[in-house]
Amino acid sequence: MILYVNSCIRKPSRTDDLAREVLAKLGGEYEEVKLAQMHLKSISNERLEKRTELVKEGKFDDPMFDLARQFAAADTIVIGAPYWDLSFPAKLKLYIENIYVMGIVSKYSEHGFPVGLCKAKKLYYVTTAGGPYLPDYSFDYITTMATQVFGISETKLIKAEMLDVVGYNPERIMKKAKETIEL
Ligand SMILES: Cc1cc2nc3c(=O)[nH]c(=O)nc-3n(C[C@H](O)[C@H](O)[C@H](O)COP(=O)(O)O)c2cc1C
Repeated sequence: MILYVNSCIRKPSRTDDLAREVLAKLGGEYEEVKLAQMHLKSISNERLEKRTELVKEGKFDDPMFDLARQFAAADTIVIGAPYWDLSFPAKLKLYIENIYVMGIVSKYSEHGFPVGLCKAKKLYYVTTAGGPYLPDYSFDYITTMATQVFGISETKLIKAEMLDVVGYNPERIMKKAKETIEL
């Protein structure tokens, strides 16, 4: 199963447009989580205690972990997220906070390091940026999470940048980005 983590907020969204091109190239059906329409909660002390208790009791089928189980079961993951504030929309961070459940997406080794439990071999991070794109606080962070925590060995960045800069042609940049997608 391909999982599309749609973190695009604006309508229409250029990032979503590019991500769907990637999904079309990947072929086949995909499941989509539309973060803009979801009311994801942040991890409060109360929810943290509940989560810790459920994990301790091995109750991984609790509805609280639906998103984590879906993420762990995906064969391929596509994250679509616009470049916001040198990073990505907060909804994507909320999603990560919600799926990072020990015993589902990751576990601790006997030496106390996270070992990934996710099935996916590859994660695509699709983004578009108004100016020059710096990967430090988005793609690089996601790559570290994927490889160090989730056990997803390969990540790939697909991007279009300089879309809002005067003198640049956003239609042409988007067209080129779509034409040059390499999976
Ligand atoms: C809230 C917000 C924050 C943004 N922050 C940045 C930024 O830090 N750097 C940048 O180059 N562009 C920034 N942009 C511009 C977007 O990255 C750019 O317009 C992008 O293509 C939007 O993608 P979308 O059409 O999928 O929403 C920002 C746009 C918004 C709405």
